[in-house]
Amino acid sequence: MTLQLGDTAPDFTADSTTGPIAFHEYLGDGWGILFSHPRDFTPVCTTELGYVARLKPEFDKRHVKAVGLSIDPVESHKGWAKDIQETQGHAPNFPIVADPDRKVANLYGMMHPAHDEVFTVRTVFVVDPKKKIRLMITYPQTTGRNFDEILRVIDSLQLTDAHRVATPVNWKQGEDVIIVPAVTDEEAKAKFPGGWKTLKPYLRLTPQPK
Ligand code: BEZ
Repeated sequence: MTLQLGDTAPDFTADSTTGPIAFHEYLGDGWGILFSHPRDFTPVCTTELGYVARLKPEFDKRHVKAVGLSIDPVESHKGWAKDIQETQGHAPNFPIVADPDRKVANLYGMMHPAHDEVFTVRTVFVVDPKKKIRLMITYPQTTGRNFDEILRVIDSLQLTDAHRVATPVNWKQGEDVIIVPAVTDEEAKAKFPGGWKTLKPYLRLTPQPK
């Protein structure tokens, strides 16, 4: 089954570097990101895992728990963590799932056999508190992901949920946002007391709600 935005993120239990993990239970009532790595002791993944560990305070602020995945066993992940600490200055401070039989990888469509028959591609899934998939990105094995961009998308999603706004191209924290077309001008008067700028009836910009 191909996963799509809005689908329930498949639940799973697996071994991880922090012990057995039941995915939905682990996320609790917060947000999550699940991201795959082709395998252990690979250079691009090493940089990514160190960076995600460095970003932990940013994820915590947004109530997001990170979960990594690589097909090697837990003992291998733990050995690799020492290299990540040594080279990146941060060891993983979140669970990394061990998926030797590709159970989770297959559940989430992380195997792309025409790209690589054995190892996963780089995927990112953002999961909301209702366990719905809100973002899916797939990168080739040779390109490190931009986790600042993942944080930016989470900020956008959380703003959308709280305020019925959307975010324009290349939006960054603090910049104007778009009032979604489903909100009428009448409703907008109550919701956005600071007012808005109408460029077109369907394109109304308002300061980012707090
Ligand atoms: C890496 O993480 O560096 C990597 C993994 C698989 C293929 C190429 C690079």
